[in-house]
Amino acid sequence: MKKILVATSKPFAPAAVVGIKKIVEASGNEFILLEKYSDKAELLKAVADVNAIIIRSDKITAEVIAAAKNLEIVVRAGAGYDNVDTKEAASKNIVVMNTPGQNSNAVAELVFGMLVYMARGQYNGKAGTELRGKKIGIHAFGWVGKFVANIAKGFGMEVFAFDPFIPQDAITKEGVKAVETVEELYKTCQYISLHIPSNEKTAKSINYDLMSVMPENATIVNTARKQVIHEDDLMKIMNERADFNYLADIAPDCAHILQDKYPSRYYGTPKKMGAQTLEANVNAGIAAINQIIKYFESGDTTFKVN
Ligand code: 3PG
Repeated sequence: MKKILVATSKPFAPAAVVGIKKIVEASGNEFILLEKYSDKAELLKAVADVNAIIIRSDKITAEVIAAAKNLEIVVRAGAGYDNVDTKEAASKNIVVMNTPGQNSNAVAELVFGMLVYMARGQYNGKAGTELRGKKIGIHAFGWVGKFVANIAKGFGMEVFAFDPFIPQDAITKEGVKAVETVEELYKTCQYISLHIPSNEKTAKSINYDLMSVMPENATIVNTARKQVIHEDDLMKIMNERADFNYLADIAPDCAHILQDKYPSRYYGTPKKMGAQTLEANVNAGIAAINQIIKYFESGDTTFKVN
């Protein structure tokens, strides 16, 4: 019998937890839940003798791994696994997986919730603008990027994408214009939606050079990670251009300054909201537990990332 821990400081919707528990118990394993914790010590204690952990943005550091003596697998119920020390896990033969695609629609819907909110002047009663006919550039054409493209088409937007890891014909097949360079994407599109992962290469990569070439009434919507934005450059462009808008899930470190100086051109969520839907929680949570059971029962490592 394996001990399977769900450790989520930002809890799943209750239905997802019920579903995960059912699958754990039906497979003859033990279900353990640690929700809404705020102290790392609680996590360190909870992982002590578990064999598997399901997490969201919870940090699985070398310290957590050292405290989890029996750990065999960690599944990040979601896409980005920048919160897991994958190398340290690999060095201890711990498998790390994510659940690609399972919460992508939720994130893509939030992109448009934020875009409409900004285009309509944050519902201030004055005439805003429409998204129809405008150009949107999708920076990285993974799962979320594809969902964003499809919704954008429904809005009647002209959709462009840049992704150095995806062949251009795979992008054009989706009815999206593939551009050759990242600069071209930013030069072409009034709206940019970020979907790049957070890693050493992408840290602060959305910089002044890119932001400054965007057309009039530029808006960047960042539902990826706050680390990918060069915040000093963001401040610079917001100071220079009265037509530049920034939307973020989740708020950047300089949020308080942006909020004070440019409340009509900036909005940031207080907590990461992209994947916060019942459907996304159920999809990602159930996928995570099924991947764990499959790994224990047959050694399946389909979604391994380390
Ligand atoms: C992801 O990478 O899957 C999203 O950013 C969602 O993260 P969350 O589970 O912490 O909301």
